[in-house]
Amino acid sequence: MKLLRTVFLSLLALLGVGLVVLAFTLSYNVACPSEPAAYNGDRVMRSAIQRCYGSPEVVENTTLPIPDVGPGEILVQVRAASVNPLDWHYLRGEPYFMRLISGIGRNTLQGVGVDFAGTVVEVGSGVTRFQPGDAVYGGKSGAFSDYVKLRADGSVAAMPDNIGYAEAAALPIAAVTALQALRDVGGVSAGDRVLVNGASGGVGTFAVQLARNMGAKVTGVCSTRNLAMVRGLGADEVIDYTQSDYTRSGERWDVIIDAVGNHSPLANRRALASGGTLVMVGAGKGNWVGPLLNLASAVLISQLVDEQLKPFVSGLNGPDLAHLAQLMERGELSPVIDRHYPLSEVREALAYSESGRARGKIIIDVNPYER
Ligand SMILES: NC(=O)c1ccc[n+]([C@@H]2O[C@H](COP(=O)([O-])OP(=O)(O)OC[C@H]3O[C@@H](n4cnc5c(N)ncnc54)[C@H](OP(=O)(O)O)[C@@H]3O)[C@@H](O)[C@H]2O)c1
Repeated sequence: MKLLRTVFLSLLALLGVGLVVLAFTLSYNVACPSEPAAYNGDRVMRSAIQRCYGSPEVVENTTLPIPDVGPGEILVQVRAASVNPLDWHYLRGEPYFMRLISGIGRNTLQGVGVDFAGTVVEVGSGVTRFQPGDAVYGGKSGAFSDYVKLRADGSVAAMPDNIGYAEAAALPIAAVTALQALRDVGGVSAGDRVLVNGASGGVGTFAVQLARNMGAKVTGVCSTRNLAMVRGLGADEVIDYTQSDYTRSGERWDVIIDAVGNHSPLANRRALASGGTLVMVGAGKGNWVGPLLNLASAVLISQLVDEQLKPFVSGLNGPDLAHLAQLMERGELSPVIDRHYPLSEVREALAYSESGRARGKIIIDVNPYER
């Protein structure tokens, strides 16, 4: 008995030490290199990069070689790009578990930004979908640069003729997330009551319009200053989160798109109609167990109740971008643009996004555009 207890306590101690070592390793930041990064060869482009984890101050405006295109690839001259919370999550490497993908100690994916719109300037062998001169939009890491190279069959689609570069650049991550959350996870259909928490943000402004487009009755949750804007996007009802808490209102919705994550899965369940679905787009605050606990408890609770509480991660892809382009072309979807920043002010743009106060999307103007 005594031996068993000793073995058990030793294993527990080992587990504790293991967890402390893992926590230290995951949260450790390698210092930023002191010498500036710059490339001075022939085909040179401007690029915003990060070589360590940290605040927007670690972003460097530097020069890199313009990438060469290979078979099946295209090179796009970026006209406009847009900022997403994902960009500063990668910048900081927080929550820490994402460092398992982005790199322990320092970021191994150096380019900052994902969403872009621009003009195809080169195509690799075998590419028939695009040709030089085409206006395209999509997602590729390192988008806050003069050029991005990506696969022609990747996360890219043609821009409609009647849409500008800034409008197209505003879409990729936020609009694809809203679309997949409503259509694929929420299973929204005409007549459903849909609540969008965070209706004034990048994802929320698209979610309100898309849910309305699917024939749902939409409630948007935002602060006082954004009530009129969210109503203008098509919300049938708006709730001011500074005045009331939708999870305690007694009202029920068939689908809740939570793009904030400030209510626990159990609190959100209170506001779901019987058999309804919560789509957890925003994971909430915290760098360690907070987001993971929310996600794990949602999965667990879903096994015990009629409602579905679903963690969700969106995935950029060409067909969804092409579908959103059609909606924009028909005037059924348009982005809310809050501010524009030049490429030289990526740090300021990221800091504004991180403030959590953006109304719709933040655009980075990279190369001059007329449409
Ligand atoms: N799961 C995925 O695949 C996925 C994909 C994309 C984004 N996300 C996550 O989804 C979240 C939203 O993304 P986003 O691009 O929409 O962010 P965002 O544009 O930065 O959101 C900012 C908006 O959130 C509003 N807001 C802040 N606190 C609020 C609250 N308590 N209640 C209601 N609204 C509030 C702000 O309005 P006020 O200033 O008026 O408060 C502001 O308009 C982020 O956490 C992001 O990381 C997840």
